[in-house]
Amino acid sequence: TESVEQMIDRLCEKIPDHPEPGVLFRDLTPLFADGEGFHRTVDALVDAFRGQYDCVAGVEARGFMIAAAVAYASGAGIIPVRKAGKLPRETLSQSYDLEYGTGTLEIHTDDAPRGSRVLVLDDVLATGGTLGAASALLTRGGYNVAGFGVIMELTALRGRTQLGGHRVRALLRV
Ligand code: PRP
Ligand code: HPA
Repeated sequence: TESVEQMIDRLCEKIPDHPEPGVLFRDLTPLFADGEGFHRTVDALVDAFRGQYDCVAGVEARGFMIAAAVAYASGAGIIPVRKAGKLPRETLSQSYDLEYGTGTLEIHTDDAPRGSRVLVLDDVLATGGTLGAASALLTRGGYNVAGFGVIMELTALRGRTQLGGHRVRALLRV
């Protein structure tokens, strides 16, 4: 029978030159759209960090889908890590570089109790700019980063080097 890793590989589409020339874009929407594929992906992330977090953080936008499911499946809450300008109360901001462009992420200063162990989730780890910024924000906010969980890691981009000594679980490394 097919492993989760094999299932993710099968349900990932590769798109050359998106969103700009030279980038081979890995599109996970077919995995998200597949009931069994999504279910097994969520369960694999829950299993990898069981007992190690109080709360999850999801990075807008694709990270919200996986974070919501992992949070629900494990009875944890979610801290949304949002693109700049969306959160209505006091925020912390962090700018970062990604594979194609730059951005700014924000969190509220007080969504969850200080000291909560937060598992940070996203769909893809590429350069690590996004998860590195999310980690910096959560640390500045007084949380303890419990680790990083992603569906896919693009190893050639060396994103792990942005993530300090925290544990990183990537279900598929390409
Ligand atoms: C993508 C992806 C990760 C990030 C990975 O999101 O969902 O968050 O890029 O790249 P990095 O490791 O080089 O930072 P994107 O910023 O395209 O936003 P989206 O979720 O709104 O599509
Ligand atoms: N696929 C999905 N998200 C990404 C990629 C990719 O190839 N690169 C950076 N973010």
